[in-house]
Amino acid sequence: MQVLVTGGAGYIGSHTVLSLLENNVDVIVYDNLVNSSIESIDRVEKLTGKKVEFVEGDICDKEKLSRVFKQFSIDAVIHFAALKAVGESAEIPLSYYQNNVHGTVCLLEVMQQHKVHNFIFSSSATVYGEENNVPYVETMKLGTPSSPYGASKVMVERILADLALSDSKFRAVSLRYFNPIGAHESGAIGEDPKGIPNNLLPYVAQVAVGKRDKLRIFGDDYPTKDGSCERDYLHVMDLAQGHVAALDWLNRHPDFSGVEAFNLGTGNGVSVFAIVKAFEQAINKKIPFEVSPRRVGDLPAFWANASKANKELNWQANRSLEQMMTDTWRWQSKNPNGFLI
Ligand code: NAD
Ligand code: WQD
Repeated sequence: MQVLVTGGAGYIGSHTVLSLLENNVDVIVYDNLVNSSIESIDRVEKLTGKKVEFVEGDICDKEKLSRVFKQFSIDAVIHFAALKAVGESAEIPLSYYQNNVHGTVCLLEVMQQHKVHNFIFSSSATVYGEENNVPYVETMKLGTPSSPYGASKVMVERILADLALSDSKFRAVSLRYFNPIGAHESGAIGEDPKGIPNNLLPYVAQVAVGKRDKLRIFGDDYPTKDGSCERDYLHVMDLAQGHVAALDWLNRHPDFSGVEAFNLGTGNGVSVFAIVKAFEQAINKKIPFEVSPRRVGDLPAFWANASKANKELNWQANRSLEQMMTDTWRWQSKNPNGFLI
């Protein structure tokens, strides 16, 4: 089986490529490296002893994409390529819609031309918006996310639904990720944010390694157990295996057509203070922090109802919070400058 992985050099993509190779799936990565390094693919090849075909290209470049579909016999596409910084998306919304929405349409058009019907999409818990109560369940109506980034994910989910209505061969799975953290247990690949990290764990890890002086905790006056926000953090290797499970689900359901959404999370909410404490315990060192004002757009608490993925994908997030912390630290301490070598 050959799978095209767009955005496969990035954080979740590289871990998923590794899991695919371990499951004897041949992988072609298509990535423009706007937020990643080819070094991640080299390291995946070293870890697995297997070859990855790599094409540097933009998903908006339909001619280049088309050449890739001609060159390889692609059975399915896993589509990670997107811009993902929530704050930045409010500053340059057009780039986000161009990249995430128009780029996805280009990819779907090329897939259609080449009669490739299997599609796995990187969606997000953000599509539930602020209207829905927790825990989030797939049967809920999509909400209104607070950022253009989130809106781009809702738009793509809508596009997939419309495409499925028009094309009875189209088979898509939308995986709604909660908060992926951690790194491969080797410490050879992990999350490598450019500039100041937006997300909690990369920031905590950079404080721990001495690159930043302290963490700012955005708000301690939320209506939660300890006043800080709660999220459903899951290990990136569990998430990677969720993609293998989704591919397997498509293979096990040859008569399926349409779009099926699955939440990928642990089902537990963990607070920011609890994350800091767990990280401190894992590395046996204090993380300096101060409480700052709330960050615009943050919801107090959300986590997944992951029963559908547990039951239908035979998938579960197995790795503990402690392992998420230990693996984050192994990656960060072995690679203080990320993939820059
Ligand atoms: P990432 O930035 O590490 O990976 C995205 C990859 O896509 C990068 O390698 C980047 O170079 C590439 N890319 C971006 N635009 C491209 C384009 N136009 N053409 C080709 N390649 C392009 O991000 P990630 O955290 O690995 O996220 C992967 C996917 O999962 C994204 O779609 C993101 O929106 C989604 N997602 C991420 C999270 C999270 O917390 N990390 C949560 C939910 C959903
Ligand atoms: C987690 C918690 C912050 C940084 C984002 C996207 C979401 C999805 C995952 C893609 C929050 C707090 C953070 C810091 C802090 N991505 N925090 N200090 O916001 O839950 O989700 O990434 O789809 O769409 O919105 O994740 O890691 O940014 O924040 O106190 O320096 O940590 O306020 O409560 P978030 P995050």
